[in-house]
Amino acid sequence: MVPTRCREGKCGLGPPGPARYDAPSEAGLKNQSLSTLLIVGGQWGDEGKGKVVDLLAGGFDAVVRYNGGHNAGHTVRFAERHFALHLVPSGIVHERSRCYMAAGMVVDPTALATEIDHLAEGGVEIGDRLMLSPRTTILLPTHRALDLAREGARGATAIGTTGRGIGPAYQDLAQRRALRADSLRDVERFASAARTIMSDHNDELAAMFSAERVDLDAALAELTTVARRLGPMVGDVGAALLGHRGRGETILFEGAQGVLLDILHGTYPYVTSSSCLPGFAATSCGVSVRLLGPVVGVMKAYVTRVGGGPFPSELTGPEGDQLRERGNEYGTTTGRPRRCGWFDAVAGRYAVQVAGLDAVALMKLDVLDGLDTIRVVTGYELPDGGMLETLPSDLELLARVRPVTMDLPGWSAPTVGVTDEAGLPAAARAYLEFLERCLGVPIVLVSTGPRREETMLRGDSPLTGQLADRIAEGVASP
Ligand code: IMP
Repeated sequence: MVPTRCREGKCGLGPPGPARYDAPSEAGLKNQSLSTLLIVGGQWGDEGKGKVVDLLAGGFDAVVRYNGGHNAGHTVRFAERHFALHLVPSGIVHERSRCYMAAGMVVDPTALATEIDHLAEGGVEIGDRLMLSPRTTILLPTHRALDLAREGARGATAIGTTGRGIGPAYQDLAQRRALRADSLRDVERFASAARTIMSDHNDELAAMFSAERVDLDAALAELTTVARRLGPMVGDVGAALLGHRGRGETILFEGAQGVLLDILHGTYPYVTSSSCLPGFAATSCGVSVRLLGPVVGVMKAYVTRVGGGPFPSELTGPEGDQLRERGNEYGTTTGRPRRCGWFDAVAGRYAVQVAGLDAVALMKLDVLDGLDTIRVVTGYELPDGGMLETLPSDLELLARVRPVTMDLPGWSAPTVGVTDEAGLPAAARAYLEFLERCLGVPIVLVSTGPRREETMLRGDSPLTGQLADRIAEGVASP
């Protein structure tokens, strides 16, 4: 879609209006030590949450995953090795962290056992540091088969799922026929219930999609083996989290996917099947929303998305290819090339609003090094000339909008590895300030490379200092 240039000066979005929260946490944060923190994706996933959580996790006593399943992929580093984690919270590589998988997740037992094995091979001892809620939904091999069959049948309107079975597993949960992790504690009961559900799935695969049935005996042989291993990990996550707080310990909530993939507030139906918003962390863990703490939204300095669905700032030509190559934009979970585009301030501000972001962590600034001009989408123009300043719920409308863009000067000096704002080229600093004005919240952390050290904390927000304290504490602890 041909963009229209922004006609107004500045960011074109106008001042953050009544739709935005009135800087909710700024005052509250001032005297508060950071006992809990929530990290959430602010775009369509893959924003770099893994690096942010990895950076912070060592400074928290507990780390919690609360949504999605092994559709997510976070890369963490331990003893110079990299691990692609899909289910286990990123804190696991820090000896001090206890890790929790909450009820709102869907967990493939085989994928979880494999991940635990990989960690052990790499020297990460899990011991009793991982707990799985008994209310977590079990994702079965037939969920995966159904996901693939449904996507195949959708043809051109396919969602572009990760093919992991996430949608069908959440569907069983909503239909009140899901197998839950409490069943892992009684392997015979687990096997019998799993056979019944998978048998129904097989009938659906055959009748609706003429697809091959999953071999139930083989599937159950594997599932019962892993059920024996995972059963002892099942425990009361909510009570454990309250225990941490009771002892004055700290908790990090680690969101998967991103606000724009949220089942209710994302670009439905091109979304995942769980809630990706911060409030779901409380629901999923079974704790008060007051436990959650400030929310940091992770966004890239540009935007990517995998799978189908509208993407107003997408660059489909060589500029998009250039961003993909420079940013190595290929999926951690599926290896699929990601669609790339300019930073979309309309979608960004929507994310700030619906997720109540207190601050933003901006990732991959260095990928923009060397570009003459950097564009930001600051508005959506309707076919009749009217303007939208927020993400519409109607996807047909979203597909027809023309992005209004603002051109900003690029920079030639590299930002790779810069850890101090004064060391950034003036144009890069101006870019950060422009995005802050558009989003209406501070950018407290900027990533200038894949390594932990290639990170800068910036600004005078109270959160900046609190994040610095947590990171320092993590460095000091094992
Ligand atoms: P599902 O979650 O596998 O059902 O996929 C639904 C949509 O969410 C697809 O567009 C996926 O590409 C996208 N999605 C799911 N998980 C992730 C993720 O961790 N990062 C980025 N996109 C994701």
